[in-house]
Amino acid sequence: MHPMVNPHDWYKDAVFYEVPIRSFCDGNGDGFGDFDGLISKLDYIADLGVTAVWVLPFYPSPLRDDGYDIADYHSVDSRYGDMKDFRRFVTEAHRRNLKVVTELVINHTSVDNAWFQRARMAPKGSSERDFYVWSDTAERFPEARIIFTFTEDSNWAWDEAAGAFYWHRFFSHQPDLNYDNPAVHAAVFEILDYWLSMGVDGLRLDAVPYLYVREGTNGENLPETHAFLKKLRAHVDEHFPGTMLLAEANQWPEDAVVYFGEGDESHMNYHFPLMPRLFMAAALGDRNPIQEILARTPAIPDSAQWGIFVRNHDELTLEMVTDEERAFMLKTYARDPRAPMNVGIRRRLAPLMDNDPRKIRLMLSLLFSLPGSPFLYYGDEIGMGDDLDLPDRDGVRTPMQWDASENAGFSTGPSSALYAPPISDSTYGYSSVNVAAQEADPGSLLNWVREIIAVRSRHDVFGRGIVEWLDAADSAVLAFRLSHGETSILVAINLADRAAECNLPAGFDAFTGAPVAGPTVLEGYEFRWVTAR
Ligand code: GLC
Repeated sequence: MHPMVNPHDWYKDAVFYEVPIRSFCDGNGDGFGDFDGLISKLDYIADLGVTAVWVLPFYPSPLRDDGYDIADYHSVDSRYGDMKDFRRFVTEAHRRNLKVVTELVINHTSVDNAWFQRARMAPKGSSERDFYVWSDTAERFPEARIIFTFTEDSNWAWDEAAGAFYWHRFFSHQPDLNYDNPAVHAAVFEILDYWLSMGVDGLRLDAVPYLYVREGTNGENLPETHAFLKKLRAHVDEHFPGTMLLAEANQWPEDAVVYFGEGDESHMNYHFPLMPRLFMAAALGDRNPIQEILARTPAIPDSAQWGIFVRNHDELTLEMVTDEERAFMLKTYARDPRAPMNVGIRRRLAPLMDNDPRKIRLMLSLLFSLPGSPFLYYGDEIGMGDDLDLPDRDGVRTPMQWDASENAGFSTGPSSALYAPPISDSTYGYSSVNVAAQEADPGSLLNWVREIIAVRSRHDVFGRGIVEWLDAADSAVLAFRLSHGETSILVAINLADRAAECNLPAGFDAFTGAPVAGPTVLEGYEFRWVTAR
């Protein structure tokens, strides 16, 4: 690392790996992935070359939203282990120089949370009752859209004990907390201190645009929400400097950048509008969707960083596209009638790419090339498939495929105990698609992913560079230069399934070291990273 680099900026050079603990590895044979299993696979994660692990919620939960419905913020769900296991996970991750990112789900709780159970019994107007947002009618805040369109038809649900409706932006079993109540702020800060004092390095702020509600608004991105985030950031900077806050703000670029504030809100935010456009560009064989959205993205503060991703544990969301673009995406990528889910597509990367290794690599080359810090979703490094017969988004959260043995090497328990069956179809099934087989094959996707991450990690310009767009004559070629200090790298990616010419500057191929100069033909879906000579 350069001596002048600020160690608090670690997220700028990070490569994140997203892990739902339940799906990764079962250490005790009960059919659920757990901390023990995850710890046993930390070497695998470190060997990928990633530098941070983002674990999905592991708190006690009825798991009606896979743990994003939290019943108790201060503990570990017994299916995943206990607090000792969590601490061991943090220590073992740190021992391998892996940062740990956990979830701060503070927009809503489970109905099973003691706060909610107390609220529904508490007298009207009391602070306990006002932990949540209540109403006598289901007509308030009509401007707020419904997010889970496949399951919900209102953002209000009736509670018999309270004799009132409560507000919820997601499932009706997930009441939203009331940020107008200062006691809620205090409770949230307490949770944050609790986990950060155990050495957590970063927090993903789940569903953060919706914290406040106000009459006459759509309840997204309100000034009050940003004011709260500034308060949260100031608290973190004061007590846990170097902790990274990652907003999950699925918004248009001009609204998304506001989550960076003036460098005084979140450090990172996912680039949600970019994500579907990577798929559009690949389908069209044309760079315009990518270049247009990035051109429309305002500059961000020095300390801020975009999170780049292609797939995650949710549906491939199509909220940040036009109606026409959404229709195109659904027609292209959701041909199976079971694939659409809410405003999106519940599929993994490999099936979206028709399992074409060249197209999978194209998408991953975009993930690892575009300015920002990449997030890799578990299983995408081996081209795992999905199971459209499972409900909701469970089909993209199936057991990690470690080897060809029973239960995909995920669990030693009886198959009937598994939280979900491993993928076993003839194309994506674990007998052929698994880590062990790909480790043994030098040409495998897994080994390619390891290589691209390793090469990327030698060039801090990917995480820190200023981008300059180069207009290649052929619009199939996405070309840009990233520069940081004395160093620069030229990226050229052919988005089309045909040869395309581009003019490369004199330099060296970052993978082979071979000299490069002048007009070059990129084969279909081929990409180049060229370091300056
Ligand atoms: C976030 C999570 C998603 C969850 C939702 C509601 O968007 O990514 O998985 O369902 O919050 O809790």
